[in-house]
Amino acid sequence: RVAYVNGRYVPHREARVHVEDRGYQFADAVYEVIGVVNGRFLDEEPHLDRLDRSLKELRIAWPIARGALKLVLRETVRRNRVRNGLVYFQVSRGVARRDFGFPKRVRPSLVVTARATPPVSADPGPGVAVITVPDIRWKRVDIKTTGLLGGALGKQKAREQGAYEAWQVDNDGLVTEGTSSNAWIVTSAGELVTRPIGHEILAGITRQTVKKVAADLQLAVVERPFSVAEALAAREAFMTSATSFVTPIVRIDGKPVGDGRPGDVARRLRAEYLRAVS
Ligand code: PDD
Repeated sequence: RVAYVNGRYVPHREARVHVEDRGYQFADAVYEVIGVVNGRFLDEEPHLDRLDRSLKELRIAWPIARGALKLVLRETVRRNRVRNGLVYFQVSRGVARRDFGFPKRVRPSLVVTARATPPVSADPGPGVAVITVPDIRWKRVDIKTTGLLGGALGKQKAREQGAYEAWQVDNDGLVTEGTSSNAWIVTSAGELVTRPIGHEILAGITRQTVKKVAADLQLAVVERPFSVAEALAAREAFMTSATSFVTPIVRIDGKPVGDGRPGDVARRLRAEYLRAVS
């Protein structure tokens, strides 16, 4: 495997940034994950737009021009022989003596890796289980930073309980999002419900594309928060992300959603989404 680090392609096991990189010390870094299906990048431009927004929010400069980054993403995928998988790229503010305030002269660090995954199937399989956990993350999770410890703790708890994802719940008992995915339900009225964009969730690119796919399928999408109780009473639940696409959720905290099997809406959205993007 090969990684790109600040202008060089290096063997993955030798890929390094300095111990005083602010990404390491402060999570002063942003990142993106783009899915690769049959050699195609899924929603590349929206992911780059979101990177631009994250960088602007933190006042980090682009490490290289957008066009150059696109070439590096392609080259990293090519050198790793990834036909199906994902490309990960991260920009930190750079290396500077440790100080909370921004350093004056600093060059952002850029790291790109790519990894193969098994080819994706339109068939969702049996679906997945989620648990619910309090949302303990910071108040600007709309910025896609590498400060992911809140989510990591939730995901680990899910794993330990045999679940695939943790849905994070705010102080009002409303679901914000998964640790690395957006959360959706389908009500008994057949409406798709997902939380509106705000500082409390990441504006998922898959979420955005699935909204369009749903509209094409004449499905009603309502953007409003929903509670765990409402999710348990829902006909279906599912999650969206660059790495899970549309994945049906069949259990929440050990209780079945609907009949405990992937629902028709999630199945159709998954199939249509994959058709639309690849
Ligand atoms: N995570 N919410 C959070 C907190 C996320 O970390 C992610 C993505 C999403 C879904 O966004 P998108 O559809 O753009 O992938 C929502 C990536 C996959 C990750 O960290 O690996």
